[in-house]
This record gives sequence, structure tokens and C-alpha cells, in this order.
Amino acid sequence: MQIIYLDNAASTWPKPPGVKEAMAEVIDQFAANPGRGGHALAMKASKTVFRTRVQLSRLFGIQNPNDLFFYLNATQALNQAIKGLLTEGDHVVTSSIEHNSVRRPLEYLRRTKKVQITYVEPRSDHLFHAEDFANALKPNTRLMVVSHASNLTGVILPIGELGKIAKQHGVVFLVDASQTAGVLPIQVDEMNIDMLAFPGHKGLYGPQGTGGLYVKSDIDLEPLIHGGTGSQSEAIEQPTTRPDRYESGTANTVGLAGLLAGVNFILEKGVENIHEHEWGLSRKAILGLREIPGVEVYGPALPVERVGVVSFNIAGVDASEASFILDQQYGIATRAGYHCTPLGHKTAGTEQRGAVRASFGIFNTEEEVDTLVNAVREIALAFQ
Ligand code: ALA
Repeated sequence: MQIIYLDNAASTWPKPPGVKEAMAEVIDQFAANPGRGGHALAMKASKTVFRTRVQLSRLFGIQNPNDLFFYLNATQALNQAIKGLLTEGDHVVTSSIEHNSVRRPLEYLRRTKKVQITYVEPRSDHLFHAEDFANALKPNTRLMVVSHASNLTGVILPIGELGKIAKQHGVVFLVDASQTAGVLPIQVDEMNIDMLAFPGHKGLYGPQGTGGLYVKSDIDLEPLIHGGTGSQSEAIEQPTTRPDRYESGTANTVGLAGLLAGVNFILEKGVENIHEHEWGLSRKAILGLREIPGVEVYGPALPVERVGVVSFNIAGVDASEASFILDQQYGIATRAGYHCTPLGHKTAGTEQRGAVRASFGIFNTEEEVDTLVNAVREIALAFQ
């Protein structure tokens, strides 16, 4: 049975041509330690890491590539941004669809540092309104952190407007681009984004174990990890120079070489074209699924645009069971359950049952969406 992979919001697959080859080239030819030696192979490894920084900076409009730090994933990047910035008594404004990678660090700081948190809800149209975030600000608000798009409903947050509000009020603006890096245009200066966390293994089509954080040059975060950087080795303290201050330990050169190939693929395709393709597939899925008796699709009504994420439930079928049947009987890979966002499920009204999520990538086709819709129709009929 041929697999139809619709779990791209968790990790994109397949990867574009060139990713595997770039990673194999490092292993075969120069898997030396980047930044830890002056010999030719170490220099080649360093150049690969730096080129990845440069191309990501091109993609996100970052002026100085050294303001971008590599981590294993967006979760680590978000932890560094949130825990490295906030101090006792700070207030944070965030949204009610955040992933646990934002919510848990915030709730940890609420418990340990008395950080206050306001979760802004969407209105009855399922959309987030910038005005509601502005109204949530307090004199001690230090940070506004939002997911650019929900990993449950695909709803897109108005980060351009939120960036303006944050700037006007002198609040640091952190964007979690887990579902949008490589899928929606992101320009940090134009959008007043002070910090941007992103995974490498989703919309950027790199391998797992890659991700990063951009931090504007005038923000000094407390580093979460201390150790060897290959620079200022005689100093007892962590270096102040970037990116070393935030990148202790040997880099994932193999993974970053793969990420570089993924980012080059994105730059060549164009983010707008990728979004148009994925939105086309989401819209087709929503149109097809919502016609099936007993199927409920979550999120804003059409024609509101989303990213390539569509969540639904089938009446009388547990979400995990539906996803299992799709996998076992139809070869369609979806994700079921709570998607690490119990907050998002509460907002969508699915906190008791979770949902089945289909998420699309650049390699999915309209025919695959038809196959999904037909499979869901058959399952819905069987459980009627
Ligand atoms: N955060 C990823 C997801 O939504 C893993 O599935």
C-alpha cells in the first residue's frame, strides 16, 4: 500500500532532493568539528554552519546572521527565549492556542518566578484580534509571545499588527514560527519581531534535530546552557559574542547541512507559492470533509485562509481510532489526540475528545486530498 503522508505539521516528509545528499557529503567528506580547529576540514564544517545561518537570514530578513542561534528544535529555542528573558514579576501576553512549548515554560515561570500570564482568546469568528492583545497589556508586560499559526486549526495570527502594538508599548515580541517558517512570509524587521523561534524539520524541510532562534541585537538573554564554544576558552564566563554565547557544545553540522539544502529549496520555490499550494489543499479538504454527514471540521469558516492544517472528528468514532483506521486500512498518516496543545483544544471545544489532524506539505497533491475525503466518508458511513 502506498503511504499518503499527511502529518507534515509534526515533521515534513519526504524531504526535497539534495537534503539527504548534503548530509551524506558531510559524513563522507568533512565531519570535523566546526569552530574548534583551524585545519581545512574544520573550516569546511564551519563554513557549512555559517552558510546555513546566512541563508536563513536571507529568508527571514535578518541583517546580521550572528543574531541567529541554532538549537535542536523550536522547543529548545522557545525555552531559551522565554526563560532567558523573563524575571520575577514580569507579565506576559500570549494566546489561547499556544503549543506546550510556549505554555509549559510560561507556567513553569509562573510557579517559580511569579510571572503573570494573560491568555488572549479568539472571538466568536475563531479569529484573534490585535486589539484584544493591546487591551491585555499592563505596565509590567515584558513579553508578547504568540504562535504565528495554530498547529491544531491552522488559524493564522495577525503578527504584523501585534508587532506594531508590541513596539509601541516597548514590549518584547516573540513569534513561534513552528507552523509557518518556510510557509508564510516572515520578515523580522518589517514585522517588528524581536525574537523568532523556528524548527528546521517542518516547513524548512531540513532533518529533525535542527531549529533556531533569532534574537534582536539589543536584547541580552541569560544563556540557558553554558559550556565550550571554541572561543574565549580562557574566560570563566560564557562569551558575550554572538552566536557563541548561545551555542555551547558541538553543532549538528550534518543536520545543518541538510537544513541548508531545505532552505535553498524554499528560497527557490518561494514561500508565497508554497503557501498557495498548501492553502489550496487545506481548502479542498475542508470543502470535502464538511459535506460528510457526521464530520465536524474545526477552525474559522471559509474563506478565511489557514496554513496547511485541517482538524476534524467523525461522529461516533474516537479520534485515535479514526486515525488508526486511516493508517491501517487506507495508508493515510494523520495525527490524532491533543497535538501537545490542550489549550488549543479547549479553544476549539475539543478538550474532551481531541481531533484527527491532516496536515499538508509541498509534495502533497489534490488526488491525495480526494483519497482522504473518500476514506473519511467510508469511515463515517461505517460508524453511523
Ligand atoms: N508540534 C508538532 C505537532 O504539532 C510536533 O505535531
